Amino acid sequence: MLDRAKNLLQPSHRSGVPPFMVMDVVAAAARLEAQGQRVIHMEVGQPSAPPPAKAIAAARAALDEAALGYTETLGISSLRGRIARAYSEWHGLDLDPARIVVTTGSSAAFILAFLAAFEAGDRVAVPLPGYPPYRHILSALGCEAVGIETTAATRWAIDGETLLAQHRVRQLKGVIVGSPANPSGTMMTASALADLIARAGEAGITVISDEIYHGLDYAFRPECAARFSSDAIVINSFSKYFCMTGWRIGWMVVPPSLLRPVERLQQNLAISVPTLSQIAAEAAFEGREELENVRRGYEENRRLLLEGLPQAGLDTFLPADGAFYLYADVSRFCDDSFAFASLMLQEAGVAVTPGVDFDPQRGRRYLRLCYAGLRADMQEAIERIGHFLR
Ligand SMILES: Cc1ncc(COP(=O)(O)O)c(C=O)c1O
Repeated sequence: MLDRAKNLLQPSHRSGVPPFMVMDVVAAAARLEAQGQRVIHMEVGQPSAPPPAKAIAAARAALDEAALGYTETLGISSLRGRIARAYSEWHGLDLDPARIVVTTGSSAAFILAFLAAFEAGDRVAVPLPGYPPYRHILSALGCEAVGIETTAATRWAIDGETLLAQHRVRQLKGVIVGSPANPSGTMMTASALADLIARAGEAGITVISDEIYHGLDYAFRPECAARFSSDAIVINSFSKYFCMTGWRIGWMVVPPSLLRPVERLQQNLAISVPTLSQIAAEAAFEGREELENVRRGYEENRRLLLEGLPQAGLDTFLPADGAFYLYADVSRFCDDSFAFASLMLQEAGVAVTPGVDFDPQRGRRYLRLCYAGLRADMQEAIERIGHFLR
């Protein structure tokens, strides 16, 4: 009887995705804090600022006034219209609101996009270093994530030539690009993105463009994949620029041929996206001034770190074009960034993320530092890191 129960409780192979190691750092930092130590948090990639006041006010009013039932599966139509209008404001693009699908964060958009565009067994190229859930969601859905190691020669992005070389070895069905990227903060130039999309299109490879860090750019303006092809799947979110991580709301721009499949999937997987979050998200577009202030804060933090960290001893980063990350090469100090991050936490009280989460091999030589926190904390982190490295 007990044996049978054990068999029934076996987890599936597809659920065996690796953990997110940053959560181990989070847990270790919490233990130190419980002992009364002060920890500067640069490990988790989320804004410390609240959502715009208008978003909160709209949510409060909705709680008092509305029943908050399900919405249409693709999202409240005024929100879809507002998102489409944002593309005209940000990029001068005229997008049909019918192509906008509201999702439960960009995380749910990935699941919908992968299910709609790929079969189990399909091979999908992902950048290394890159956001770990790209690989892990693909593998949980039975697809094969094909990691492509990016280098300085292509500004740390997958380029068209490398993509096609991989495709010739064994057929690829998709490629994921992110610009600005996590963990590196690097961005693709418009011509690099256009070239990748053109070559992928000729080879029948679906492009999924993760644009979640759009709006947080400091070197040049990022381009939207929808400008170059209506076959690209564009994914975005209210989590980062709009400071709404916990509201779990994002969106995608879907190629017309995938619209109905995505709708059918979302009908079955979620019914609809939390109504309160949709109402707040629409109002968040009115908080541009506050959000630009937050963005300027990140820009100032980035400047402080890029000036201060080299004096403290950390001086090799990938180009910090956007998002709120620095990806630092620490190979001068160690070849095990997980152990190095643990030591930095213990001795300096600064929590950072080891690169192995993002790039299982080369990540042993890198740390990711998130600069979405308070300016005073960034200054103190520089001092503590300097002390630690001396
Ligand atoms: C590159 C990237 N894409 C997607 C996500 C998921 O964000 P969310 O599901 O909150 O929209 C994150 C979160 O950190 C991210 O860094």
